[in-house]
Amino acid sequence: MPTRNKITIAIDGYSGTGKSSTAKAVASKLGYIYVDSGAMYRAVTLHFLKNEIDLNDKTQVLNALENIQIDFSYNKDLARYETCLNENNVEESIRGMEVSNYVSAVSAIKAVRDAMIAIQRKLGEAKGVVMDGRDIGTVVFPNADLKFFLTADTKIRAERRQMELKESGNEVSLTDIIKNLEDRDKVDSSREISPLRRAEDAIEIDTTGLSFADQVGLIIDKANETINV
Ligand code: DC
Repeated sequence: MPTRNKITIAIDGYSGTGKSSTAKAVASKLGYIYVDSGAMYRAVTLHFLKNEIDLNDKTQVLNALENIQIDFSYNKDLARYETCLNENNVEESIRGMEVSNYVSAVSAIKAVRDAMIAIQRKLGEAKGVVMDGRDIGTVVFPNADLKFFLTADTKIRAERRQMELKESGNEVSLTDIIKNLEDRDKVDSSREISPLRRAEDAIEIDTTGLSFADQVGLIIDKANETINV
């Protein structure tokens, strides 16, 4: 009988490659905790927007970070974890275009990244975690047991994001979404701190032609190979 040890799985990649839904499904199949690190940067962005924080004012940024508490609460009806900012559920508002258009600038600030990375490492301490983001395999958990890097064609990514937005009642044109994705890819990949890049030991998956089930299946197969030692 093989032993089932708990592992850490890092899933990084571009926006709209299905990272979050894949990571969520993988965590649920393995009975692991799922952490959406992008949601954390989105929650900080929402807080900064609401409080009109000047991103160039270091003191304002540091003070604002001290007043932010981010948690995830489980919504039984929707069977999903939802993001809470200072005990308010912000799951819907962090997905809107206002936050999407501003989040890359906020997540490029070192103080913001340091604060989020500290929370992410704490959440992953006990292992048995699937975390998705941009720098999970490179910076947050460089020793993760398994790392994946997801890519996909930009038009496919935009269509997926448009569908998600539609489901939450937001009609956004494909042109606007493509522009937002391309702008974010550029800022996320070229920023000085923790740029989006594939860790050398990450397994790259191009999800363009893959069904959701195939995508999840690929990761689960690899996870089982690693878990059953
Ligand atoms: O995964 P997402 O699209 O919800 O992420 C929102 C933004 O947060 C993304 O444009 C870049 C940033 N992000 C980051 O810098 N590092 C992470 N680990 C996760 C997200």
